[in-house]
Amino acid sequence: MGDWQRSCLCGEPRESEVGRELTLMGWTRSLRDHGGLLFIDLRDRTGFVQVVVNPEVTPEAHEKAKRVRSEDVLAVRGSLVRRSEETINPTIPTGTVELMAQELRVLNPSRVPPFPVDDDIEPTEASRFRYRYLDLRRPRSLRALEIRHRMLTAIRSHLNDLSFMEVETPVLTKSTPEGARDYLVPSRMHPGKFYALPQSPQLFKQILMVGGVDRYFQVVRCFRDEDLRMDRQPEFTQLDIEMSFVRPEDIFAMVEGMMARVFREVKGVELETPFRRLSWEEAMSRYGTDKPDLRFGLELVELSEAFRDSGVAIFKRALAAGGIVKGLKVPGAADLSRKELDDLTGLVGRYGAKGLAWIKVLDSEWQSPLTKFLSESEKEALRTLTRVQPGDVIFMLADDFDVVNEGLANLRLEMGRRLGLVPEGAHAFAWVLDFPLVEWKKAEGRYSAVHHPFTAPQEEDLPLLESDPARVKSRAYDLVLNGMEMGGGSIRIHSPELQRQVLSLLDVTPETIEEQFGFLLEALDLGAPPHGGIAFGVDRLAMLLSDSPAIRDVIAFPKSQRAVCMLTEAPTAVDARQLSELQIRTLTGEP
Ligand code: AMO
Repeated sequence: MGDWQRSCLCGEPRESEVGRELTLMGWTRSLRDHGGLLFIDLRDRTGFVQVVVNPEVTPEAHEKAKRVRSEDVLAVRGSLVRRSEETINPTIPTGTVELMAQELRVLNPSRVPPFPVDDDIEPTEASRFRYRYLDLRRPRSLRALEIRHRMLTAIRSHLNDLSFMEVETPVLTKSTPEGARDYLVPSRMHPGKFYALPQSPQLFKQILMVGGVDRYFQVVRCFRDEDLRMDRQPEFTQLDIEMSFVRPEDIFAMVEGMMARVFREVKGVELETPFRRLSWEEAMSRYGTDKPDLRFGLELVELSEAFRDSGVAIFKRALAAGGIVKGLKVPGAADLSRKELDDLTGLVGRYGAKGLAWIKVLDSEWQSPLTKFLSESEKEALRTLTRVQPGDVIFMLADDFDVVNEGLANLRLEMGRRLGLVPEGAHAFAWVLDFPLVEWKKAEGRYSAVHHPFTAPQEEDLPLLESDPARVKSRAYDLVLNGMEMGGGSIRIHSPELQRQVLSLLDVTPETIEEQFGFLLEALDLGAPPHGGIAFGVDRLAMLLSDSPAIRDVIAFPKSQRAVCMLTEAPTAVDARQLSELQIRTLTGEP
């Protein structure tokens, strides 16, 4: 760069600065030769500006410019001029001006990039992240990270205004059960022993409450070794929050204020607060899921009672086996073809349904493989419960609770999309409350915590803990936005006796309780205040705020579906010496 100093960024020059001498630095976005005059678009994170190199005025700069290639890093000195009327580009903020080059320096040439750095040309996923630095030069990619930054700035200011304190918790730690597999880190000092990377800072934040921190937050990396999806990464960021002496309502109000500020400052959108609240039971019954997309209606209908004594064999069988029957009426869908119906059957099949019953309600008749088995009273019940009109379709599933709900919930989303029922730009927030405390895991033959084992049961259900644990409701809550779980939390157990009781209900032996959670129980026994909190998926929120289709887009260096860092190719084999220091030998024999 020599002694050159940048005057401003490439996207900044405006007409008011015409006549000024400027030194600009950036990347070569494009180079065009118009009969000797060379035009270079010089780009940086703020945008680009047109540079003109005239061979008659600056032959030396022109000689250098002729050899410039895409993505070369340049410095240009020149004077800012107004573009002639016919060359004004109204689509960019610098479109009325251009820089007349006087001197040009190539600060660093680039070899030919593996893909053109251009918002309109989408590279493959693999090259985007292998060459993430090139990808980030594309405005759309960088914008997602900028929105994430602005979101976190708004969150930090808000929590700071409310006297929250950001405290860091360990990364080399002990396993906290959040339901996924741990990433383990071997200890050199203690051969054969391992740290676990935190799935969340859950126990540390609770212990900070015992320490009197009162209002804690942390923007914190969490690690979960689980199967990846569009909205999941093995390492992701939580906005983790904990408060002392609070009721769920206090947490809701705090979060609603924070979300309102984030949406206002980042998106210019005014959210309606308080957010809608619905119980877990209501969410399951009406939408078949605990994270309902409330941007549109299409509610499910409970049909078990209507088919209690049905002549339809599949319904009878499912109900006799303790299952349920539910339906979904889709208005105006009676023209679905046989092929489309087969596709939808395939869709519910992915969630375990063995078939999908359907009835097309036409003006004169009900068309369905089931018609001849349906009694008049069943038809009447269907009419009343679904309020069906000619032209509609009723879908029905009969199976166990999970299969029916998951199948219909996904069918609902699919039909909502197909019928264009999902309004653009809508933000349907909702709190889902009153989750069950535990669920029975058939395969493992034991109860497991629906949220996590530190969540408090609802007080009125305490007597059921021994006699009928499946009916105990918890003081957990989730925040759902447009059908995605944004965050989850709960009021915690602060009594060591109750914590022991819940852990043993989850089949944790007394020895394991002491060994794994002894430090927590001891803290609870030394003056733990009533406390509760919540954690949000920072990446998921950023995804929604930036309208990004995948979680990878809002993470600077994300992992692939196979949990590989696409830039560095981690995980990689390590040196034999490193392994021997750790006293580790691998079964695969590598290295
Ligand atoms: P939970 O497990 O619900 O709660 O996690 C909180 C939020 O973190 C986000 N999240 C993820 N985001 C991306 N990739 C993942 N693999 C992933 N897993 C979770 C979700 C989720 O809602 N300690 C409790 C919180 C508490 O009780 O306060 C916890 O971790 O948006």
